[in-house]
Amino acid sequence: MNGRRKLRGRISATLFAMTEPSEQEGQRRQPEGAPRRRRAHTTSRDLERYAGLFAKRTQAMRSSAMRDLMAITARPEVISLAGGLPDTSTFPAESFAAQMTRIAHESSAEALQYGPTEGFEETKACLVEVMAAEGMAPDPDDLIVTTGGQQAIDLITKTLVDPGDPVICEAPTYPGAVPTFCSYEADVHQVNTDDDGMRIDELEELIAALARAGRRPKFIYSVPSFQNPAGVTLSEQRRRRLVELAREHEVLIVEDNPYGLLRFDGEPQPTLYSLDGGDYVLYLGTLSKILSPGIRIGWVAAPPPVLEKIGLGKQAADLCTSTLSQYFVREYFGEGRWLDYVADLVTIYRDRRDAMLDALERHFPEQSIWTRPGGGLFLWATLPDYIDTTDLLAKALRENVAFVPGRSAYVDGLRGASSMRLNFSASDEDELREGIRRIGHVISEQIALYETITGEHRIGPPPDDEDDPGGEVVPMPRR
Ligand SMILES: Cc1ncc(COP(=O)(O)O)c(C=O)c1O
Repeated sequence: MNGRRKLRGRISATLFAMTEPSEQEGQRRQPEGAPRRRRAHTTSRDLERYAGLFAKRTQAMRSSAMRDLMAITARPEVISLAGGLPDTSTFPAESFAAQMTRIAHESSAEALQYGPTEGFEETKACLVEVMAAEGMAPDPDDLIVTTGGQQAIDLITKTLVDPGDPVICEAPTYPGAVPTFCSYEADVHQVNTDDDGMRIDELEELIAALARAGRRPKFIYSVPSFQNPAGVTLSEQRRRRLVELAREHEVLIVEDNPYGLLRFDGEPQPTLYSLDGGDYVLYLGTLSKILSPGIRIGWVAAPPPVLEKIGLGKQAADLCTSTLSQYFVREYFGEGRWLDYVADLVTIYRDRRDAMLDALERHFPEQSIWTRPGGGLFLWATLPDYIDTTDLLAKALRENVAFVPGRSAYVDGLRGASSMRLNFSASDEDELREGIRRIGHVISEQIALYETITGEHRIGPPPDDEDDPGGEVVPMPRR
């Protein structure tokens, strides 16, 4: 708890320092005579005024490190390897303009109207097509369209979890799921991952231990393909065993699969949903990484009784998903070229992944290890355990480069302290190389400091700097 508070304090202190100038700029841009915008940070008087009004559950709420970092990394001089942003500049602007113009001319009134809570049939038909591309054949009636995948995680947790209920997820897990699980006061248990994804042997032990205590997890949350944050993929054997376990113990699985179609190497794995047939697996999809996160279109495929409750939760949350976005999806899929765009993204991201891996070999010290993702947007690097990546981030930001510190992928806010998530989709190859060079530089400084203090000697050659031609590459241990 202390550690968690400390972490929050550290991140917000850094953010405060970094966001203030743009606040001031915002105020300068105010039109004459408009009321002045209030400062964004909270004073102790504000706290006193509102503290007694907050619901108890707000005490368990946590900020998302990634959202916090977005404010800083929006500065053009920062190379951000922190976000989970797809490169939307690759989407052809002229076809976007043509699609939106068609909507304006042909369906303006409908596109600007409310829609059904579960989403339009035409949207669901497009999402069924996306699932079919990964070998699934759901009934469109088993789908509900959500405001991004994030809302799907929220609605599922809201539907299934009472305070204190056990939920199982991977360690590390998607950092954006951590605040959701916390806000519903779930008792989160994290199961270690390795190169083949979640350790199913550890999962079995955990389920057995919970059963001995008379408890059953409400669900097992997994990102099985090109996981956010580690980039690892659950092997087929483990997938099969995971689905068997869910059936044996009558536990639901939440399969979150934003990245399955962004495969660079190897053969596709069967989804958990297809292995299970949709009885115990709730499938969660999104168009954020294969089309646009700005349109906020995600979905859940679930058995009808669960879907009905999720629908009630969605009515309360936002009535319906953006009609305009759904009309855009309909237009876009109607052109029949969406898979070509996914193929373009795969080519671009594969090259970027390779550039990042190459830069890591050149610039990270030999005591570091990292994953080698076969797809997706991220890899996960782990440094010597005396380096705390939350502290390192503050130093990296001074060098105008950002990453996500590993702690944000753990609910206890303690594990993952010497790891970091690195994104390779949002920057071009030169930026990626430069970003990794800068991070490598701050890591070397930390190592040198540690060695000076402890008297230990560095193993291997010093990491290179700007003038280094990058000749000799020391082989790295890998996970
Ligand atoms: C595993 C995972 N789930 C859900 C989301 C949220 O997706 P969306 O942008 O559709 O809300 C993300 C976004 O990065 C993600 O990586």
